[in-house]
Amino acid sequence: MGQIVPDPVEQYLSSLNRSADSVLKAIARAGEERNLPLVDAEVGALLRTLAMAAGATRILEIGTAIGYSGIWLAGALPDGGSLLTMEMNADRAREARDNFESAGLAGRVNVIVGDAQRMLAKVAGPFDVIFQDGDKQLYSPLLDRLVTLLRPGGLLITDNVLWDGEVVPGFVARPQRDPGDTRAIAEYNERLAAHPLLITSIVPMRDGVAISVKKR
Ligand SMILES: C[S@@+](CC[C@H](N)C(=O)[O-])C[C@H]1O[C@@H](n2cnc3c(N)ncnc32)[C@H](O)[C@@H]1O
Repeated sequence: MGQIVPDPVEQYLSSLNRSADSVLKAIARAGEERNLPLVDAEVGALLRTLAMAAGATRILEIGTAIGYSGIWLAGALPDGGSLLTMEMNADRAREARDNFESAGLAGRVNVIVGDAQRMLAKVAGPFDVIFQDGDKQLYSPLLDRLVTLLRPGGLLITDNVLWDGEVVPGFVARPQRDPGDTRAIAEYNERLAAHPLLITSIVPMRDGVAISVKKR
């Protein structure tokens, strides 16, 4: 559990989330056993809710890992919709493909193996929803490219923007996270807040999720 939302509240939210199926539960367990930094089921349900609310037919994700958040996102797509998801670790990308297959979603998901910094130059927009969950130090350098790829009215969703509260000066007595990552996220949050094309709201759920809409 994170340090932002008290454990009993997280447990209460968890008890109300009935959307995870057996495939998602198995992937979450596998991720926990290997200490992979996957979103939890509550953030997963938030992603699916937002993608459905946006009527998304094209979704882009940075940071596939083993496909957990991708399954929540792709599950929101209508027939003919697509998720393009990028992962630089080839083993994780392979496992993600297997997991998309098990979830019955392989037909609408394309996993691209490689560094998002380079791959994003080759991708054509517009996307209805973009989920940024890759390298924290790349959040800020990739921001303008992602905004360009987003359709007006589309959503840029960013995970980990509160970083266990460590972006809040003085909040955490003994910070555990890489200070370079913490600075990078704090800078990114400032850029989101000041961005002329975005309206952003941060939900203090789990590790903090920023929801930005691109102005029309
Ligand atoms: C936090 S994990 C993603 C978790 C996943 N979104 C989920 O919740 O199921 C971040 C992933 O981004 C990948 N990654 C880091 N830097 C990247 C880059 N430059 N390009 C593509 N993937 C990257 C890492 O290998 C890692 O698997």
